Amino acid sequence: MEKTITESAQGSALALKERQGNQRKLYIESYGCQMNFSDSEIVASILANEGFNTTDVLEEADLVLVNTCSIREKAELTVRKRLEKFNAVKKHRPHMKVGVLGCMAERLKSQLLEEEKIVDMVVGPDAYKDLPNLIQEVDGGRNAVNVLLSKDETYGDVAPVRLNTNGVTAFVSITRGCDNMCTFCVVPFTRGRERSRDPHSILLEVNDLWAKGFKEVTLLGQNVDSYLWYGGGLKKDFEKATDMQQAIAVNFAKLLELVALAQPKMRIRFSTSNPQDMTLEVIHTMAKYANICNYIHLPVQSGSNRILKAMNRLHTREDYFALIDNIRKIIPDCAISQDMITGFPTETEQDHQDTLSLMEYVKYDFGFMFAYSERPGTLAARKLKDDVPEATKKRRLLEIIDLQRKHGLYRTQQHIDKVEEVLIEGTSKKSDIQWMGRNSQNTVVVFPKEHYRIGEFVNVKINDCTSATLIGKALGHTPNN
Ligand code: SAH
Ligand code: F3S
Repeated sequence: MEKTITESAQGSALALKERQGNQRKLYIESYGCQMNFSDSEIVASILANEGFNTTDVLEEADLVLVNTCSIREKAELTVRKRLEKFNAVKKHRPHMKVGVLGCMAERLKSQLLEEEKIVDMVVGPDAYKDLPNLIQEVDGGRNAVNVLLSKDETYGDVAPVRLNTNGVTAFVSITRGCDNMCTFCVVPFTRGRERSRDPHSILLEVNDLWAKGFKEVTLLGQNVDSYLWYGGGLKKDFEKATDMQQAIAVNFAKLLELVALAQPKMRIRFSTSNPQDMTLEVIHTMAKYANICNYIHLPVQSGSNRILKAMNRLHTREDYFALIDNIRKIIPDCAISQDMITGFPTETEQDHQDTLSLMEYVKYDFGFMFAYSERPGTLAARKLKDDVPEATKKRRLLEIIDLQRKHGLYRTQQHIDKVEEVLIEGTSKKSDIQWMGRNSQNTVVVFPKEHYRIGEFVNVKINDCTSATLIGKALGHTPNN
C-alpha cells in the first residue's frame, strides 16, 4: 500500500470534520466508460457518510474528484486539460483539494503527484473504501495514494448515490476487472482481475431502484458474459472452489433470469458482451423474457482473422458470423452494435477491407469506432511497432464511420411505420416540446410530448428517421405502466 497515515493528520481532520458538519461540498466529474460513472456513484455514497454533499458547481467545491479513463491517449489528455481548469479555480479557493480516481490513477500511481502539482490524492478503482482515510491524510496537508488492486472488492455492500439521474434509467455493476488481456487494452492493468458481485446484492439494488421509481437497469461489466458467482473471489480461482460452491454457481444467463423475474415490468439491459464468452444460453434467456431488451453491444474490433489473433481476441471472423446468425435466428429483431479499432499494428489494406466486409455482413445498428492508440505497458505496445501512419488510421476510420452511418440509416428505416414501445427518459436535446426515449433496441425515439410524462412506457408510431434517431407520434400508454 502506497499511502501513509499519521496520527496528527487524523486528529486535525477529525476536528475539521466536526467543525464543518455536513457542510463540505464534493464536486465529482467522470470520464470514459459507464463503469466509471457507476463507480462515481459508489464514491459519492462512501463520502456522503463522511459528511460530503455533492454539488454541480465546481467553484463552490471543497473536494474535487475526477474519475479518469486511460483507454486512449486522448482520454488522458482531456483529463490533464481539466486539471488546469481546477488549478485556476484553486487560486481563489486555496483550501480546495483535488483527487484523481479511476484508471489514470491506477496506471500512473504517485507519478501523477509529481506531474500534476494540483493533485493531492491518487486513488485506484478498488480503493474507494479507503477514501475517508485518504481524505484525512490530505486534510492534514499531505498527499495520499492508494492504488491497491483487490481480488474480492465489488462494492456490493455500498448503495450508490445516483448522480445526474433522470430517475428512470440506472446502471448496476455486476463484475469488476477483466481477465481477457486483449493486447491493445489497458483495462486489465488498471482495473485488475475479474470478479463477480453477489447476485443477492444485485437483486437488492434492482428492487430498490424499482421501489424508487426507476424503470430500466443496465447490468454493467467489462465482459458481462463472463459473470460467475460462486461465493466470492476471482473468476480464475473458480476451479479451486469447493464442489458445493461450484454446484450453486450463478452464471450470466442465470443472473439475467433472476433479475428479469424479480422485476418483470422493469426493462433490463446489459453491457458489454464479448463474442468469445457470449453463450446460446444467454441469447435464449433474452428471448424468453419480454423485459430483457433486444439489444446486444458486441464489440469485434476487427474483421481480419490475422488482426483478431494479434489482438488476442479469442474468436475468428467465422465464429463471430455464427454468433450473429444465432442471435438473428433466436431474436429476429435484435439490435447489435460494435466497437472497432482501425490501424492496429501491421493492419494492411486487406485487413481493413475484411473489417468493411464484416460490417457489410452484420449491418450494425450503431457503433463506436476508434483509431488505435498505443497504451504503455500493454502487450501490443511491448511487442508491436505502432506502424500504421496516423493519416492511414484516420482515413480507415472515416471509411468505417461512413459505412456505419449507411448501415445505421438502413436499420432505422426498418422501424418506419411500426408501433414500438418507448420508455420516456427526458426532453429531446433538440426541442423542448418533444420527448426523448428509447425502444427495446436502444434506438433513440423522439415524439411530441402531449400529455405523456417522463418514466412512462408509450406506444409510438414511427414516421421518419435519421441514421441514428427515430421520429414518431405517441398512440397511447402500454400495459407496462
Ligand atoms: N469490454 C470493454 C471494452 C472497454 S474499452 C467494455 O465494456 O466496453 C471500449 C473500447 O475501446 C474497446 O472495445 C475498443 O474498441 C476501444 N479501445 C480499447 N483500447 C483501445 C486502444 N488502445 N486504442 C483504441 N481503441 C481502444
Ligand atoms: Fe479490454 Fe478486451 Fe477486457 S477490450 S476490457 S481486455 S475484453
